[in-house]
Amino acid sequence: MSDAAVDQDIALAVIGGTGLYKLASLQDEQTLAGNTIYGEPSAPVRIGRIAGHRVAFLARHGEDHSIPPHRVNYRANLRRLQDLGVARVLAINTVGGITERFAPRTLACPDQIIDYTWGRISTLWDEPVGVPLHVDFSEPYSQGLRRALLVAAMGSGIDVIAGGCYGATQGPRLESRAEIARMRRDGCDLVGMTGMPEAGLARELGLEYASLALIANWAAGCSDSAEITLAEVLANVEVASAALPELLKALLTGR
Ligand code: HPA
Repeated sequence: MSDAAVDQDIALAVIGGTGLYKLASLQDEQTLAGNTIYGEPSAPVRIGRIAGHRVAFLARHGEDHSIPPHRVNYRANLRRLQDLGVARVLAINTVGGITERFAPRTLACPDQIIDYTWGRISTLWDEPVGVPLHVDFSEPYSQGLRRALLVAAMGSGIDVIAGGCYGATQGPRLESRAEIARMRRDGCDLVGMTGMPEAGLARELGLEYASLALIANWAAGCSDSAEITLAEVLANVEVASAALPELLKALLTGR
């Protein structure tokens, strides 16, 4: 499909994280490969319908999970969606839970971010532009999209924790107990590797952007478990993402 064939408004884009490489509920799916001024996105964009509404899906790490968090071209992913006419982006982030409420297999819609990443391209304004470009980030996520998501969750009986602070780490390794203890002291409830620079770039691009965090494990030192395994992470993501089709339907239909 060519870009010109995207003839109808896309109501929402979903960026899938670890364990979510396709949206099974997308009907009449078409695939759109394409590039951006920032380079190549992680995967082609899949466009289809949910409850009659056009939805775009992009796998953040590639559909075969070949791209680690520090190598994702966050700018290209978001710009590609924007080039296709997307205004609202729901980012799915697989995370570890730090504080008590944020147990594995639950869902959360964070409202704050602390950025611990380094060395990633974190702005659109990498070259001199002659004007100060300091976007407001007091509320790092779109309050409108967060509210709509939480209303949709409530209306369909899906538990989504409203709020929480997402700490974005560099990865790809997981954290030490001491690092998580520090993040807890800093006020983080969740830890993941992809929340930044994505949210900051979305703000710079003027996109409405919110995160739905799928809690996959207790972060290091937050449970009796001696280590975090990929099998545990993937199994819990599968459970947590089971509510996604219903939640997206409710979000799109405004129920
Ligand atoms: N830390 C960082 N990122 C993650 C984790 C974690 O414990 N679990 C899933 N993504």
